[in-house]
Amino acid sequence: MLSEADIARAVSVLRAGGLVAFPTETVYGLGADAANDAAVQKIFAAKGRPHNHPLIVHIADVTHVATWARDVPPAVHRLAQRFWPGPLTMVLKRAAGVSDFVTGGQQTIALRAPSHPVARALLARFGGGIAAPSANRYGRVSATTAGHVRQEFGDDLDFILDGGATDIGIESTIVDLSRDRPSVLRPGAITERMLEDALGAPLAPPDRASPRAPGMHARHYAPRTPLMVMEADLLLELASSLVRQGKRVAVLARSAQQPLLQGLTWIGAPADPGGYAHALYADLRRLDAAGCDAILAEAPPGDMEWAAVRDRLTRASAGGV
Ligand code: TXA
Ligand code: MG
Repeated sequence: MLSEADIARAVSVLRAGGLVAFPTETVYGLGADAANDAAVQKIFAAKGRPHNHPLIVHIADVTHVATWARDVPPAVHRLAQRFWPGPLTMVLKRAAGVSDFVTGGQQTIALRAPSHPVARALLARFGGGIAAPSANRYGRVSATTAGHVRQEFGDDLDFILDGGATDIGIESTIVDLSRDRPSVLRPGAITERMLEDALGAPLAPPDRASPRAPGMHARHYAPRTPLMVMEADLLLELASSLVRQGKRVAVLARSAQQPLLQGLTWIGAPADPGGYAHALYADLRRLDAAGCDAILAEAPPGDMEWAAVRDRLTRASAGGV
């Protein structure tokens, strides 16, 4: 169990310009004082992340929005009321004085008020904004436990707040509110339907003028083992033919039943999108660690509730569905 003393220690590390990994309800974040450029630069160095990739600034609640953003539309308050604290990131026009380090040089800023009690305690006690990407090396699978964070960074971090396994398991939904019509830049647990319901208006599809969300690069969230996504029947066929050729195959199944085959590492994923997302990154890490020649993942269903899971699997497979 974490204590007040752990939170206090994390806050002093942040104040001193250090890095603290902390749990959120989505994935673990790698945090630094968002107002301290030198501290923010340490995040890029630790992750090996390109400098033009903007970070999400985590805030305690909607009253902090005005510190970071300007021309804040009424939709922000509507969405904050419904979904904050929670797994929703809002992209807004950045306020004057917000540093290029946090925003990757863009004219927008991404803000999120997380709901995890440890993140909330940290933000309340720290008082300012905490810039935090997911706590993984660039392009790799996000961390959903403190153990994953240690696997990623070893002793490179100043402090890790261990809040156990995260609840949702995949990153927040990102909605762009910096232009006339809101649009979703990254799907997450809060679906387009939930956003449209709260906004009382349809979302626009993102277009070429949308703010860049560089985490949306095709290959991302990727294990080291090559991963392919396919329907169950093809998966079973391919798995047995690869095994017959002497290859070692890891499978992330959903509906498919495990065949009697030597040389298969098999995980049956939960049948509902929430359970699937919760387990996804830990599953990918386990399959990756099995040292197989390939990971075959069964394609998720096509409906909106599965959009975020589909997105992460597609990126983990470098786009080859
Ligand atoms: O659930 C989450 O969002 C987690 C936890 C730690 O809060 N954070 C997270 O951060 O996923 P990161 O850095 O791994 O992904 C942030 C995404 C990136 O794709 C980045 O490009 C996008 O947000 N982003 C950040 N600022 C942006 C901006 N101003 N405009 C457009 N996209 C932005
Ligand atoms: Mg990330």
